[in-house]
Amino acid sequence: MASKAPSSQASGAEPDVSEDSARAREELRGRIKGSGPLARDTEASSSRGAAGRSQAHESAIKHVTGRAAYIDDLRAPTDALHVALGLSPVAHGRLTRLGLEEVKALPGVVDVIAIADVPGHTDIGPVFPGDPIFVEDEISYVGQVLFAVAAESHRTAREAIRLAVVEIDEQPACLDPVAAAQRGEFVRPTHVQQSGDWEQALASAAHVVEGEQFVGGQEHFYLEGQACLVQPTEDEGVIVHTSNQHPSETQKLVAEVLGIPFHAVTVEVRRMGGGFGGKETQASPWACIGALITRRTGRTTRVRLPRADDMRATGKRHPFHNRYRLGIDDKGVILGGELTLIGDCGYSPDLSDAIVDRAMFHSDNAYSLGEARVTGHRARTHTASNTAFRGFGGPQGMMVIEAAMDDIARRIGEDPLTIRKRNLYRPGRQMTHYGQQVDQIALLHELIEQLETSSEYWARRRAITEFNAESPIVKRGLALTPVKFGISFTAKHLNQAGALLHVYTDGSVMINHGGTEMGQGLHTKICQVVAQELGLDTEEVRITATRTDKVPNTSPTAASSGADLNGQAARDASRKLKARLFDFAHEHLYRDQGLDREEMRLEAGHLIAGHGESERRIPWGELVQAAYLNRISLSEKGFYATPLIHYDRNTGQGRPFYYYAFGAAAAEVSVDTLTGEYQVDRVDILHDVGDSLNPAIDIGQVEGGFIQGMGWLTSEELKWNDAGRLISDGPATYKIPTYGDLPPVFNVKLMEGHPNSMASIYRSKAVGEPPFMLGMAVWSALRDALASMTDYAEAPRLDTPATPERVLLAAETLRARYTPWPLVEEEG
Ligand code: MTE
Ligand code: HPA
Ligand code: MOS
Repeated sequence: MASKAPSSQASGAEPDVSEDSARAREELRGRIKGSGPLARDTEASSSRGAAGRSQAHESAIKHVTGRAAYIDDLRAPTDALHVALGLSPVAHGRLTRLGLEEVKALPGVVDVIAIADVPGHTDIGPVFPGDPIFVEDEISYVGQVLFAVAAESHRTAREAIRLAVVEIDEQPACLDPVAAAQRGEFVRPTHVQQSGDWEQALASAAHVVEGEQFVGGQEHFYLEGQACLVQPTEDEGVIVHTSNQHPSETQKLVAEVLGIPFHAVTVEVRRMGGGFGGKETQASPWACIGALITRRTGRTTRVRLPRADDMRATGKRHPFHNRYRLGIDDKGVILGGELTLIGDCGYSPDLSDAIVDRAMFHSDNAYSLGEARVTGHRARTHTASNTAFRGFGGPQGMMVIEAAMDDIARRIGEDPLTIRKRNLYRPGRQMTHYGQQVDQIALLHELIEQLETSSEYWARRRAITEFNAESPIVKRGLALTPVKFGISFTAKHLNQAGALLHVYTDGSVMINHGGTEMGQGLHTKICQVVAQELGLDTEEVRITATRTDKVPNTSPTAASSGADLNGQAARDASRKLKARLFDFAHEHLYRDQGLDREEMRLEAGHLIAGHGESERRIPWGELVQAAYLNRISLSEKGFYATPLIHYDRNTGQGRPFYYYAFGAAAAEVSVDTLTGEYQVDRVDILHDVGDSLNPAIDIGQVEGGFIQGMGWLTSEELKWNDAGRLISDGPATYKIPTYGDLPPVFNVKLMEGHPNSMASIYRSKAVGEPPFMLGMAVWSALRDALASMTDYAEAPRLDTPATPERVLLAAETLRARYTPWPLVEEEG
């Protein structure tokens, strides 16, 4: 490939791009059309008055020029060790012999460790026990770690792995969560939420609709795989650099595995090349293994998983099997019924209790279930332990009620959008099945009406119906689906955050907080918050890495709550410091000038006191200098804990969420019913982020979330063979969406004029996860296209991912039942 070719618009500031990518960029320029600007086109406005304005990601230039350092880019001493992992080749059995003599003997191998070499805890389960750091006896999945090798090079470490003698008494593996649930094989007890008399509601209903579905899992496919770099410190400690959403938990586990106090372990995260939930708990094992080797050898240790190992060893989004039975009235409005969700948790609890809970909390999506019972099972199977993934069970739960909406529409003979609108939470039907009132209902209705209009839903509906009547093979489909997503960790204690603010004597500002940066723009938003409070440009505020020795005992950056929690903590620190500076200015700088302390403000790089004639201004730098010389502390910490939330798991009732974020998407597809191939022709999105902290970043989150959700429901198919070995273990066999999968018409807008009804940071709303579930519109549109083959009498079951194979199978089933073959009538 030609390198260093000048780019089409080479300029001093722009880095070189290769000829190929320059050409590709040229070809794609302007091909993606939408009325609203996509994230890359949003105008960056002046950074004065920082919060609420579009600003580029704090590392944007570094991301695109390759200067942003990820774990593998960090420099290490030349004698750093490289680790490879010995993984179980079978899904279930007993380890009867692990012979590592030849592994140890290979030149270049420095250390080999297994379960007997762990001085402290051997179970590193994050919430509940169940995750041994190395297999002791029982093997629970293909890819479970048996031992680790540290060598002078990664290649040597990998070669050494193959010399191990592994003998296993293999036993049958269970890969079917429904069978596991029937046998009562659970990783955690079943939980039930119930409101009213669901049996009575079913018995008295005009119609009963029922169905079942299998909803597939999803590989995180973060671009940066699991990786860490561990350095020894004085005494018995370690510093762990890791690609990790939960540094404090890794600190705890590393300390426990080594048998040392938490303060001897420092965990640092500058940024991740994507996390998506896959690094909330499952970045820790590699840090623990690296730390063990570092402490045993006294040498810096690198652990990074090759993609295939990463995909085998780590858990994924939980696949779910969902069933519903709902009583409806003549208009298709749900009166009540029962929903049963079975989450496939893999071999251990990990976060599954909270994930299946969140699926249950979201099995209503934006609709009132009436008098309903929701049951959530946590099935144990012999796969990697499934874990957090954008939406955290919410998407899997919503799928059941969206399936029901389409099915109700066909039963009643109305458009699915009409049925969806009829079932939305509304005044008088405002209470969820777990006892939380849905706030901002008017916003939800208005959002859907706006999208209905801007997407020209009804005109396109007519056009599609006409098209389908004339088109026997290619069928078009359309769907508009809402999202309501609860914001807060459902584990109440996690809803807290801390921040540490330093002002240096040149006036530059350093903010640290408990959140981690994974590409979502959290650090940018936190800088904006501090800049806003202190009246500075965002460039004057810097965040470096997240470190456990700066802000302790942090929650994971998860549940979309990073900006909500840490933004408030950073604001708290800023306000306290500001108050101290005002007191100082009032007493020392403006003594006897009659200026009102309460009217002081920090604006545009100045402390301003008084108004009009008597206005006084001091530049920020001078203020800071003066405060320093007068021995006023220029450092402050902040804290925040979300108010009002609670949930009683004994009764299944409470108010688990501080607020809800809303959104809706309209998707149009065309399906070739003879091959199952399809394309997404147009997508319109309207999404609620309250008063956005940063519209450019938020639109980026909405676009990315939607596309990732679409990938989950369409092309991303996890495949295991009968022995439980993952066979979709790389990009060749596992298809995530690419640039070319963007819909050719993609209109993305943020809802305006609706600040958060709760006192969130500047009345913004969390944005990380909710847009993921907008992808459901594509799946529902596929069902709509297929339903046209029945003249809209029924919507076929369409399990996910709805790959072309699955779409084809559904189409063939429908054609056999509805269309006399051959398609073209024979003559004579
Ligand atoms: N965006 C990017 N670019 N990369 C990611 O890994 N993770 C998502 C979302 N958006 C993710 C992302 C998930 S799963 C969550 S919970 C939130 O970001 C976490 O960050 P926040 O709370 O700061 O929004
Ligand atoms: N969401 C995401 N991650 C979590 C949660 C949650 O509700 N609870 C614990 N970890
Ligand atoms: Mo996100 S799944 O809560 O890390």
